[in-house]
Amino acid sequence: MAAGSLQALRAAYRSGWALDAGFYADPAVFDQDMAVIFARNWQFAGHDCEIPQAGDWFTHAIGRDSVIVARGRDGRVRAFHNVCRHRGARICAQERGRAPAFVCPYHAWAYDLTGKLMRDTTAEHGVASSELGLRPVAMRQVGGLIFVSLAEQPPDFAAAEAVLAPALRPQGVARAKIATTAEYLVQANWKVIWENNRECFHCPTTHPEYIRANYDIQLNDPRHEAEIAARTDACAADWKRKGLEVPSLQSDMTGAWYRANRTPLRPGWASESLDGAQVAPLMGEYPDAEVGTLRTTVFPSFWMHGSCDHAVSTRVTPVGPDQTKVKVYWLVAGHAQEGRDYRLDRIMPFWQRTSEQDWTICEAVQKGVQSRGYVPGPLAKVKERNVAQFLDWYVGQLAA
Ligand code: FES
Ligand SMILES: [Fe+2]
Repeated sequence: MAAGSLQALRAAYRSGWALDAGFYADPAVFDQDMAVIFARNWQFAGHDCEIPQAGDWFTHAIGRDSVIVARGRDGRVRAFHNVCRHRGARICAQERGRAPAFVCPYHAWAYDLTGKLMRDTTAEHGVASSELGLRPVAMRQVGGLIFVSLAEQPPDFAAAEAVLAPALRPQGVARAKIATTAEYLVQANWKVIWENNRECFHCPTTHPEYIRANYDIQLNDPRHEAEIAARTDACAADWKRKGLEVPSLQSDMTGAWYRANRTPLRPGWASESLDGAQVAPLMGEYPDAEVGTLRTTVFPSFWMHGSCDHAVSTRVTPVGPDQTKVKVYWLVAGHAQEGRDYRLDRIMPFWQRTSEQDWTICEAVQKGVQSRGYVPGPLAKVKERNVAQFLDWYVGQLAA
């Protein structure tokens, strides 16, 4: 697709409507998305607690790029391009490990945990080793989450940090541990996955577990207004007493690429578990189980739901126009021991089912939008307003 056609596609966008088919299926749009959205913005890479000790590292591949995130002997986390400064070989082939240094598999150049090349190259290569360190990648940590940006000049992170840091602090993600993860290759465009994430209009048909615990589908329904307002007021007062930040009770993120809000669970639900019971020790600074859920969203690659006792974070990585890798992480308090304090079959099913229900419906959408029969449909003004916000943000990014 020529640049002109990309422009025409953008020009045809109508706020409040789904996108034209090309946005979901065209390889040229996908390339543009990777260059403009994913190489420029902050990407969720992983959690602090995945690399607790000096020498711990993980890699995260975004398109053709791969980033190493490693903890140094000084305890600091750094991010580097996973590219050897000699002739460019990818250095770490694995997803994680622990090592005193990174050794290139080609000619064995070794780099220390700060990215410094540990060999004298002056005589043989004519360049000082100090000029041949691993190229750093911009990295920010907030509330136990690690974000990287491949851009030379990444977007400002300060405003996001100001919202995310106080909201995330009590959840204790930085001191948590990963209980387990699940990885999916979803046969859908990354935007289909986000559009689906940004509304609960589909929840009654798709998520029997989720709607028992949460108010989402009753929100903005006049019949439930009074009940929700009373519950919200009571929770807000309680949370304020406990020192929990309550930035917002709605999930709107008008214009912004980040948000965090704390939302009441329905009465009787302590946690997003199948029966609402607490299923692991309290996390972070939570004094009791009455903390609702902390919901965090960072476009274009991260969302998280935190209950009193566990948190579930999701990382979205596009692979192709119609394929997206999704990794789901279940986190519990750092001191919690499997078997003694929690069981995977108690903490996992709620979000495993909800996630998989979403992937199934997203794959159905991808099939539809790729077909000759597809024309964009109108979004619901209230129940899908956050989908419209996401798409406005997306199209705005392309135009910028
Ligand atoms: S390419 Fe890495 S050592 Fe030669
Ligand atoms: Fe869903």
